[in-house]
Amino acid sequence: RVVAVIMVGGPTKGTRFRPLSLNIPKPLFPLAGQPMVHHPISACRRIPNLAQIFLIGFYEEKEFALYVSSISNELRVPVRYLKEDKPHGSAGGLYNFRDYIMEDNPSHVVLLNCDVCCSFPLPQMLEAHKGYGGMGTLLVIKVSAEAANQFGELVADPVTNELLHYTEKPETFVSDLINCGVYIFTPNIFTAIEDVFMQRKDRANLRRATSFEALQSAAKALPPDYVRLDQDILSPLAGKKELYTYETLDFWEQIKTPGMSLKCSGLYLSQFRHTSPQLLAAGDGTRSATIIGDVYIHPSAKIHPSAKIGPNVSISANARIGAGVRLISCIILDDVEIKENAVVIHAIIGWKSSIGKWSRVQGEGDYNAKLGITILGEAGSVEDEVVVINSIVLPNKTLNISVQEEIIL
Ligand code: GDD
Repeated sequence: RVVAVIMVGGPTKGTRFRPLSLNIPKPLFPLAGQPMVHHPISACRRIPNLAQIFLIGFYEEKEFALYVSSISNELRVPVRYLKEDKPHGSAGGLYNFRDYIMEDNPSHVVLLNCDVCCSFPLPQMLEAHKGYGGMGTLLVIKVSAEAANQFGELVADPVTNELLHYTEKPETFVSDLINCGVYIFTPNIFTAIEDVFMQRKDRANLRRATSFEALQSAAKALPPDYVRLDQDILSPLAGKKELYTYETLDFWEQIKTPGMSLKCSGLYLSQFRHTSPQLLAAGDGTRSATIIGDVYIHPSAKIHPSAKIGPNVSISANARIGAGVRLISCIILDDVEIKENAVVIHAIIGWKSSIGKWSRVQGEGDYNAKLGITILGEAGSVEDEVVVINSIVLPNKTLNISVQEEIIL
């Protein structure tokens, strides 16, 4: 049997995701109309003999309760949220809940970061992992040499796929092959994490017995129960025939900012063409709006037939889209109203916001730039005929004059 664990992190990690993370834990922010964490969860469904899915994080339990119970019913696989009392690092968090994870006596543990967007080729990875015979297999991808240093860079044996060398976010270039944050482990991973604890304890004892400088360096050290998967496990175990790699040639992105969430929403919408075409809106002629490319519209949203929508648009519950509205590359959240003839391009419109008639809310569409898309926080209001370009607007603001390249606090 196999269990899956998705690391969802916690509120302190979400600062780059502001202002959207002010309203909702980042893992529940909708991409292609589904919570971010829903995409790895539905990928887990394709794993043969999946016993349970755990989400591990340090958000309040109540924030995940509703989602976890509805998804368990839908998938008919138990999905449980396990709350850490404090961050233990990506490997420490896993270790903390080893008794729950091992309760079905699984042969393999699938471990996923929640903030990556990819096709999650989990059954294929599992097969490859069994063939390699190691303790763990990492999903890896080639990226441009300039982008690689934001990730774990690694070297793999081209013939055996063994992980030979691993460095987390190195300052000098090591390799354009990077860690995707998607792993398969045997239960031996828990022994490997325990070994790190033991070494830490030994070192701490040694320090106690020695000098003042050693005491000073101990003060700077990480808490003894904080273990990072990358630096503390992957780096030291590289080149020991314990870890192997599986390269994906499909899409892969990391979702740290609102701009990237808009890009990834589009990637998941285009994946729906193959996996869940029933979720995509189909323009069915005269009585409905004109739909271009991949679009998700929640069944409760009201769209005027003269609106033109797409590509890469996702519209959440109870949104109202008026006559003559044009939407391109945007995420429209719950209860938003967009009035007649407004245009929204490369933007995220927060919950309960309202966009006035003939107004224009637009970003240039550079998903990596700080002001590359326009974001309206919750309950924002753009008055009639106002133009908002490349700006971030915090919650509860009313814009009655046009702005460009501004952060409205
Ligand atoms: N529960 C819990 N507790 N989750 C955590 C904790 C923790 O203490 N710390 C991190 N996480 C979660 C994050 O929410 C995220 O899903 C994942 O673990 C990894 O987060 P980080 O450790 O902050 O690393 P990163 O996202 O900057 O980089 C990692 O992922 C990249 C791929 O997206 C590294 O593994 C990189 O090598 C890798 O390229």
